[in-house]
Amino acid sequence: MLPLGSELFAVADRMRAMVAAQGKNDMLRGKILANVFFEASTRTSCSFQAAMLRLGGDVLPLNESGSSAKKGETLGDTIRCLECYADVTVLRHPLVGSAAAAAAAARKPVINAGDGVGEHPTQSLLDLYTIRDELPDHSLAGKTIALVGDLKNGRTVHSLAMLLAKYAVALQFVAPPSLQMPQHVKDEVAAISARHGTAVTFTEHEALAEVGGACDVMYVTRVQKERFATEAEYEAVKGVLVVTPATMAVARPAMALMHPLPRVGEILESVDDDPRAAYFRQMENGLYVRMALLALVMGVEGC
Ligand code: NCD
Repeated sequence: MLPLGSELFAVADRMRAMVAAQGKNDMLRGKILANVFFEASTRTSCSFQAAMLRLGGDVLPLNESGSSAKKGETLGDTIRCLECYADVTVLRHPLVGSAAAAAAAARKPVINAGDGVGEHPTQSLLDLYTIRDELPDHSLAGKTIALVGDLKNGRTVHSLAMLLAKYAVALQFVAPPSLQMPQHVKDEVAAISARHGTAVTFTEHEALAEVGGACDVMYVTRVQKERFATEAEYEAVKGVLVVTPATMAVARPAMALMHPLPRVGEILESVDDDPRAAYFRQMENGLYVRMALLALVMGVEGC
């Protein structure tokens, strides 16, 4: 099993302390990040941008409407262009596999910031960092983690399930039947667990009540409206799984309630003041983990 205190997390801890003490430094002075978002984003885009700025670097932002993708340019050509001007590219794109395709075309590092319904690996790193912080004993061994919501279309839960498979955890997948975890992700979770000898188990559920009192982490996601073919299909499943004060009343006293955000009603605002509501701390952690990622990807010594 991997240690939970990886090098990345140790660097992220130091980034957190640095930001608290002095706001920014010059670690990446002279470096430029191409921040390419061809799908909507608030947290991922802004935290990568803030991470670069707090390390003294600069940012070249690009969205689809302002880019030559509108004129029919291929993604490979766009990436090859940007790396003439920048040192690292962060890419969010609607197509599964787009980040891998971009990385294959590139000479410089490409970081996947979400490829359609595929994966969102930097989110799962900040999620794991948050889980480590929030659990009272800072250990994942023997813990139960519920992933709740649109497990079919949600890339955050795909990446998180695969990352958690490296630890000896029990996973609970909670979703309406039509939005359950895809078979290819479950197969990958089993393969990763076998490789790491972690004996991860997973169970599938439809109702929050089946898991609510028995998990150490409850990770909630929104129903991904933009992935549905019709509004009617979305309407049929939205609002089925909602965390309320009543959910929290039966939850474990030290449970961490997480959400990658944005939320659209699946955690009521009346839950926000509960000390177990970790999603705003999780969001802040995204800055420190992405600062650490950028410093390590750029090969900064002693960061
Ligand atoms: C997520 C995403 O874009 O996949 N948001 C994020 O990056 N924090 C989750 C979502 O959009 O539901």
